[in-house]
Amino acid sequence: MPDVPTKASCPPPSFDEAKNRRQRARAAGMDPNYWYAVGRSADLRKGQVMATRFWGQDIAVFRGEDGRLRAVEDRCAHRHIKLSTGEVVGCRLVCPYHGWEHDGDGNVKIPHDLFGRPEPRLRIRSVPVKERYGLVFIFPGDPQLATVRDVPTIPELEGDDPWPHAIVQFDCEGHFSMLLENVSDFTHGFLHRKYQPFYGQDLLRLDVHEDRVEVEYATKVAAGRLQDAFVRRLPTDRNRMVACYDYPYHWSNTDDRIKHFLFTLPKDERSNRHIFIFYLHPDGMKLPGVPGRLPRPVLKAMMAFARKFTLEPLLGQDVWVIGHEQEGWDAHHDKPAPELSPVVKAFQDLTIRKWREHLERTGGSDLVRVRPCRPSSGAEAGT
Ligand code: FES
Ligand SMILES: [Fe+2]
Repeated sequence: MPDVPTKASCPPPSFDEAKNRRQRARAAGMDPNYWYAVGRSADLRKGQVMATRFWGQDIAVFRGEDGRLRAVEDRCAHRHIKLSTGEVVGCRLVCPYHGWEHDGDGNVKIPHDLFGRPEPRLRIRSVPVKERYGLVFIFPGDPQLATVRDVPTIPELEGDDPWPHAIVQFDCEGHFSMLLENVSDFTHGFLHRKYQPFYGQDLLRLDVHEDRVEVEYATKVAAGRLQDAFVRRLPTDRNRMVACYDYPYHWSNTDDRIKHFLFTLPKDERSNRHIFIFYLHPDGMKLPGVPGRLPRPVLKAMMAFARKFTLEPLLGQDVWVIGHEQEGWDAHHDKPAPELSPVVKAFQDLTIRKWREHLERTGGSDLVRVRPCRPSSGAEAGT
């Protein structure tokens, strides 16, 4: 009787412990010195706070009554309660316990009796934050670099007449590398056989640049019946697609008419947020029987329809399968996983190299993994 495969006896290896490419990719983090999208602007109104996370660092983003966004580490300076459990008063984030107030620069004001002591000068870390394309971005790394490096430019979404677009946001229980590989590995068309966002996967080109891996497929884009009905066949050439891992982002382009941009937020080793913006040239959309360019409100309504009935269910399939891929990884990371696609290997190499470079620059090691620590005998008593 053949042996029943047993689960690995230990958790997946850390980046330092990894012995092969896949193990390294599945343990890598992302370089914090980029802008990362954490959510939609519309979900953070005046007076609201949002809890987010970047590779194990908890961050609270809030919008003051003046409409401006601010972000600080999600930790009250007093007893380290999460500030995101508190409330925004004016332009400060107030802890729910003793009411200590934290401004967007991380300065702290104590509102209660100081028992005759001078007010201590306390400060928590603040995080650069900005908005663009209807999204909220944070810069979790060195704040000085936040002014040097910007959110990527998407010209089609700028100006008074941006292309019709749809934002799809979802949280995924799996390492971020799994989804990044998924979006450029067209061999998983089987999973999407009901919606058929692409059909066929002949790899025409795989170019590896410094911080970019660009691929081109011969594939029928928007092949499903519903998409076919709403995407104008001419003049768009829907038989090829270029996709790119443009570290740490991902985008695709079909004939300069159908595009997407993907922002990935690696919260920790097993939990991520992905925010897609899909955008179509206004001349690339049609309503059966209606000639010419469609009015803007109609295009907007069509994108909302596409989001609800095609994009969200389609990406829901990826979220579902990646949850299972993570489960499989946790249980069987010690077994071989044959990788046939050169695209996946190239993506993993880029993820690994960028993380290694970050660790070498900072002298850090695996930041997110919590390791048991022994209390020191001379631990200081709190005051
Ligand atoms: S724990 Fe936050 S004010 Fe005391
Ligand atoms: Fe997919």
